Amino acid sequence: MILDIINKKANKYELTKEELETILLGYLNDEVKDYQMSAFLMAICINDMSDSEVFALTDIFIKSGDVLDLSFIDEIKVDKHSTGGVGDKTTLIVAPLVASCNVPVIKMSGRGLGYTGGTIDKLESIPGFKVDLTEEEIKKQAEDIGIVITSQTKDLAPLDKKVYALRDVTATTNSIPLIASSIMSKKIAGGADKIVIDIKVGSGALIKTKEEAERLSSLLIKIGTYYQKEVRTVISNMDRPLGHNIGNKLEVLEAIDVLKGNVKGELLNLSLELATKMVSMGKGISEEEAMKEVKENLENGKALNKFIEFVKYQHGNIEELEINAKVYNIKANKSGSLKDINALSIAKLSESLGAGRKSKDDEIDYNAGVIIKKEIGNEIKEGDVLASLYTNIDNPNFNLERIFEIS
Ligand code: URA
Repeated sequence: MILDIINKKANKYELTKEELETILLGYLNDEVKDYQMSAFLMAICINDMSDSEVFALTDIFIKSGDVLDLSFIDEIKVDKHSTGGVGDKTTLIVAPLVASCNVPVIKMSGRGLGYTGGTIDKLESIPGFKVDLTEEEIKKQAEDIGIVITSQTKDLAPLDKKVYALRDVTATTNSIPLIASSIMSKKIAGGADKIVIDIKVGSGALIKTKEEAERLSSLLIKIGTYYQKEVRTVISNMDRPLGHNIGNKLEVLEAIDVLKGNVKGELLNLSLELATKMVSMGKGISEEEAMKEVKENLENGKALNKFIEFVKYQHGNIEELEINAKVYNIKANKSGSLKDINALSIAKLSESLGAGRKSKDDEIDYNAGVIIKKEIGNEIKEGDVLASLYTNIDNPNFNLERIFEIS
């Protein structure tokens, strides 16, 4: 039976929901083996899925675990998700910005693995910050200040988790229907009414081309429609890191700088775009009106105040954010124009400095990371500092040419 289902997909036939349930629930119960699921996932990667297969797959993922009921919060709950980027600290900026516009943000976030960052790790780098909130605490905080970011308490879409771990080691991450159902199952199980998804595209992202990003966008919107959840997407570049700081505490510091109005450029622009969509959806107003409100609340300090209020409420001490690490500088070995900064290489470097975990139970060094000191297009002189590395590891290794292209 399992072999028939794999064969059917390998021969480009559409599967029924029952067939998908048989193989996937079998995998959840350990009756279907990793090697069988790997072959099945590869057949999907090669032969794609129809819309009805994607809806069925999403449904199976959702029903494999808990579904959060946030109906105790009366207002429309708007969530945000990113497909994963280097230096992506937009949640830390966008959540207080949106909440300051009176649209509640109740967000379940995760930890990072490998070189990917997680919002919960970033928040935990703030001394005292509490990430494990009970349902009662979430409810009270949502009512009191309209913003909550907590680690996932319930087991949301555990089948997706199991399949994702296998995809990671079988070169099957790069399939649009698999990505779409994976993201949407977690968002729907997380209780959001409306969802904004930031699709990262570029060398440092899972999605490499604009065409793939557009297909993913349309599929995410279709799944949303199927579940009566409004979905809007933003397609943003991830050839280069977002902002200057990579690493948990360093990213919190940069997010605060954006909220203080001290940072311009791509990080600010993307944060404004995401916040605008969320406020527009939450309040049912046009994006033009929402953008006006969002910009006002950034400029008048309300977003920064909301961030401070939120950190305090979750017991974080924002006054104690100094970086405790040794600093090593990466200096240019030649003069020329800075042509490229490779996002993936920076992320791997930051992980090697202690900012990421190699396996799920590893401790991370919240102080570790990288600050990029130059912008693309800058004229560089030999000996100029291109980046500063923060680490408690002695004499860290890096490959300058792999990170910075100067010519
Ligand atoms: N993010 C997810 O949650 N799942 C994917 O498959 C890709 C990105």
